[in-house]
Formats: sequence, structure tokens, C-alpha cells
Amino acid sequence: MIQGIGIDLVELSRITSWTQDKFIERILSDDEKMIFDSITSEDRKLTFIGGRFAAKEALFKAFFEGDKTANYKDFSILNDLNGKPYVISKHQSDKMTIHISITHTKDYAMAYVVIETL
Ligand SMILES: CC(C)(COP(=O)(O)OP(=O)(O)OC[C@H]1O[C@@H](n2cnc3c(N)ncnc32)[C@H](O)[C@@H]1OP(=O)(O)O)[C@@H](O)C(=O)NCCC(=O)NCCS
Repeated sequence: MIQGIGIDLVELSRITSWTQDKFIERILSDDEKMIFDSITSEDRKLTFIGGRFAAKEALFKAFFEGDKTANYKDFSILNDLNGKPYVISKHQSDKMTIHISITHTKDYAMAYVVIETL
């Protein structure tokens, strides 16, 4: 059964206009921060964080109805060996599957989430 869906589109120029260190600290989990720190290309850093930000906004829409206590760091979006993204979260139960897809161009990042329960 589909329990929730969420979608988000991020304008990457908005991210470059924000204070970088504070934004990164607020958005990325420790695992994501390690990956982010290993990226050498500035363009790729921007699409990486833009994709994570879009993904987490989409996850909030899919998971919560107006709950403002959720934290960006409650979610980690990692990539499997093929590059396919997956989500690790304390909000996820055993009976739940989170489907996520991310895309980015040089100007935008977008993510789509479907939460499925048994
Ligand atoms: C994987 C592929 C679909 C990505 O598309 P793209 O147009 O280059 O890039 P997009 O901006 O649309 O998407 C990038 C995001 O796709 C996601 N992605 C990468 N590989 C993926 C895969 N195998 N399956 C699903 N999603 C994937 C990632 O989340 C990535 O963003 P991130 O690295 O910041 O997390 C594309 O490279 C492709 O078609 N490759 C050839 C076939 C293939 O599936 N190869 C995978 C290796 S077996």
C-alpha cells in the first residue's frame, strides 16, 4: 500500500547564495558529509547537496503532515554500487520500503519519494 508520496525541486543558485558551512551542517548527515568532503569538483558538490536537500524535502512531504520536529539529519541518502540512491532513517519501520529517485542539471535538483507499507 502506498502510504505517502513527496516531490521537491531545488534551484541550485539559491544554495550558493546561502552560508555554505551552516547549510551543509544543517542538511547533511555524518555519512553524507564524508562523501561530500571527498568530492573535488565544486559543480558536483553543488549537485550532491542540492540532490540531498531536494530528497529530504520530498521525504518530509511523504512522511509527515505538518510535523515540524523532523530534522534533515534524520535521513541519509546514500548510493548503492550502481549509483542508485537509497534512504536510511530512524523514521523507517521494518514493514516500510522507501523508493527514491534524484535528478539534477547544472541549475536544478529534483527528487521524488514513494513510501510503501506491507
Ligand atoms: C544512472 C543514470 C540513469 C543517471 O542519469 P543522468 O541523466 O546521468 O543523471 P541525473 O541527474 O538524471 O541523475 C543523477 C542521479 O541518478 C541517481 N542514480 C545514479 N545511478 C542510478 C541507478 N543505477 N539507478 C537509479 N538511480 C540512479 C543518483 O541519485 C544520481 O544522483 P546522486 O549521485 O547525486 O545521488 C544514467 O547515468 C544512465 O542511464 N546510465 C546508464 C545505465 C545505467 O543504469 N547505469 C547504471 C550503472 S549499472
